[in-house]
Amino acid sequence: MSTHDYRFLQAAPVIPVLVIHDLATAVPMAHALVEGGLPVLEVTLRTPCALEAIAAIAREVPAAIVGAGTVCNADQLSMSQAHGAQFIVSPGSSQALFQAAHAAQLPLLPGVCTASEMIQAMDAGFNILKFFPAEINGGVAALKAFSGPFPQLQFCPTGGINRSNLADYLSVTSVIAVGGSWVTPTEAVQARDWGTITQLAKQSVTLAQTIMAAA
Ligand code: 3PG
Repeated sequence: MSTHDYRFLQAAPVIPVLVIHDLATAVPMAHALVEGGLPVLEVTLRTPCALEAIAAIAREVPAAIVGAGTVCNADQLSMSQAHGAQFIVSPGSSQALFQAAHAAQLPLLPGVCTASEMIQAMDAGFNILKFFPAEINGGVAALKAFSGPFPQLQFCPTGGINRSNLADYLSVTSVIAVGGSWVTPTEAVQARDWGTITQLAKQSVTLAQTIMAAA
């Protein structure tokens, strides 16, 4: 995948943001999400087993498109790629991350929440950005306002998105997909309740299809 190959974002309207504490849950959780229609998975580098989880999903769930999230520096980006990550998500952005993504030829969703950060990302060649944390930075209203000066930008908002506001976000023209953790509730993961996770995934796919049909 080249640096600017963002076709994976067309595979699903929602990117589950996964915080994997127990490596044994990685593969069944990925299967449950794929079965529910959400194959694009962001595994956050916030737990000791995150890189192994990426490797396990890449190896054992071929229908999944697994990426790494919470990537904050070039070393983490390169380790994520070595473990099979096909895309990178960062909570913020830096020149070091931009350069590392270009060098690795990996698609990066750099985290931004201000106009200045958007300009810096565009200058570095990135036009599809993670708007984070979305809700507390103005949410849907802010995304619509940014489309005025930045019509070329597309966003993957994350942070505070759930079933109740998903439709509002997906209705914004500049939103290409949304990220969030609500499809993998902690209680369901701890209980190994994969059926609930598949159902939550299906609900978000159905909602997204309804919005696209109405657009
Ligand atoms: C992220 O890492 O992108 C966010 O922490 C996910 O936000 P959420 O838990 O509010 O969905």
